[in-house]
Amino acid sequence: MNIRKFLEEKTRKHLEKLGVENPPLIKTASRPEHGHYQANGIMAAAKEKGLNPRELAKEVVSSIETEESSDSFNLEIAGPGFINITISKAWINQILSIISKDVRLGVSTQKRKKFLTDYSSPNLAKEMHIGHLRSTTIGDACSRILEFLGHQVIRTNHVGDWGSQFGSLLAYMNKLSKEEIALASELKDLENFYRKASQLWREDQKFADEARKFVVKLQSKDPECLELWSKFIEESMKHCQAVYDQLNISLKQEHVVAESFYNEKLESIVKDLTEKNLIAISDGAKCVFLEEWVGKDGEPTPAIIQKSDGGFPYITTDLAAARHRSQELNIDEALYFVDARQTLHFRQLFHIALKAGFTRKDQSFRHIPNGIILSKEGKPYKTRQGGAVKLAEVLKESISRAKSLVSDKNSALSEQEQIIIAEIVGIGAIKYAELSKNRNTDYVFDWEKMLSFEGNTAPYLQYAYTRIKGILNKSKRSNEKLSSDFSLQDPYEIQLALKLAQFTEAVESVVEDYQPNLLCNYLFELSQFFMTFYENCPVNTAEERIKISRLNLCDLTGRVLKKGLELLGIEVLDRM
Ligand code: ARG
Repeated sequence: MNIRKFLEEKTRKHLEKLGVENPPLIKTASRPEHGHYQANGIMAAAKEKGLNPRELAKEVVSSIETEESSDSFNLEIAGPGFINITISKAWINQILSIISKDVRLGVSTQKRKKFLTDYSSPNLAKEMHIGHLRSTTIGDACSRILEFLGHQVIRTNHVGDWGSQFGSLLAYMNKLSKEEIALASELKDLENFYRKASQLWREDQKFADEARKFVVKLQSKDPECLELWSKFIEESMKHCQAVYDQLNISLKQEHVVAESFYNEKLESIVKDLTEKNLIAISDGAKCVFLEEWVGKDGEPTPAIIQKSDGGFPYITTDLAAARHRSQELNIDEALYFVDARQTLHFRQLFHIALKAGFTRKDQSFRHIPNGIILSKEGKPYKTRQGGAVKLAEVLKESISRAKSLVSDKNSALSEQEQIIIAEIVGIGAIKYAELSKNRNTDYVFDWEKMLSFEGNTAPYLQYAYTRIKGILNKSKRSNEKLSSDFSLQDPYEIQLALKLAQFTEAVESVVEDYQPNLLCNYLFELSQFFMTFYENCPVNTAEERIKISRLNLCDLTGRVLKKGLELLGIEVLDRM
């Protein structure tokens, strides 16, 4: 149940009765003295109709009060024409009793749509680096949330597995196998493998020629070369999968639809564009000139579809992918979780795809951009030598930092337990640091902050969860015995309870513009409200009826916290 939406619709209905079409714009109140929600749209509505805003607010309030005879909420006119809305204790108690009985915690499903989420999508000619964290975790969280809201989600890992950069890798691999060095052990350290291959490419003329031959061989589908290539891809993909598994990312091998999948379709993309008169030749390359995208010089910006040497660039493969997603998969919405630096690419892509009829107007293709990860100095996060920071290394470091944190905090735990906890805390911290930031902006990667037990961090939330578990354990009340009775009175109880009743709002807000940070903020506030409730309202020593109600409140908080973190792909622990 979405309280905000409910109030929005209710108020809108009464505005319409008064002949006003503007939306009431119900928002959560910015300060507690303004109640729980406030209608901000009355002033604008009154202005448009030439009415006095306070008068209009009065009319709306009296229309609702006479007709709804509801004791669910109280309305109050404030300032120049705001309506402050306070939800009644009785209604809050009632909502909690309903959602505590619901496995979905009150979140209903939306009208089912078919989504495709394109995320992570690394280039396999390089090992995954820290930059991949963003698209990977944000895309994964959004996929989980869309699914929870009842949508069909086709996860897609559009990995880069084709192109000239594979030439030197294959040449190097070929050389190694000839020299009978165990490939498996060489490929364990992919990064080193790439480095050696590109060093040879720069320094050894013979090797460079060999590498070029491999590019041609690969493009002409030479069987031996293809075999070597697929071995390499398989190895590289294994590295990615290991990272996904460790990071608790729901991508699996079956979600990979690599660039090479579209190889056979690229010619037909050019053919179709040519037939539609969208292609012009410029310097020997086949281009689409877009009147709609005029550059600084006032000339249309070209997008190259086929290079003069016959090769196909990134966008052509993406055009084929877009056509496939539209026509074969028949999706309603495609979301591309990719770095903001590719914004122009996606604008051109979606525009050309629609113009060429590869996609339909009733489908939505959207780029969901993200900023980059910075060092404390405000520069892109790199190794001391200026190289890319391997994602696998970052995960390792996080777990080891979490391990010392855990043993400091609770040395009574067995080594085995400490290791398990460190995994969950270390991975949770990294993912949460990512998800809790606004995806549009760059953010500073800060070990101390993300692994702190204070502030908006995963360890803080995970710790709050263990506190709740501890309270429930102490009361010796197992989950089955919990009732759904709530008799909440204390302001701290009400504050926490209302927050719990707003879980739906938090989950739904994420998919409005694909911002998992909104759910993070919600969970953080929820945990803070829980902590203040717990400091101010005794649970186990309270009188029986209150005790039961408060235990129910603890239990529900724990369930919401766990579910919310689960939707973000983060695990919880019963103790730490
Ligand atoms: N492989 C690309 C890169 O690393 C990202 C691909 C994103 N998805 C897409 N359909 N273009 O930059």
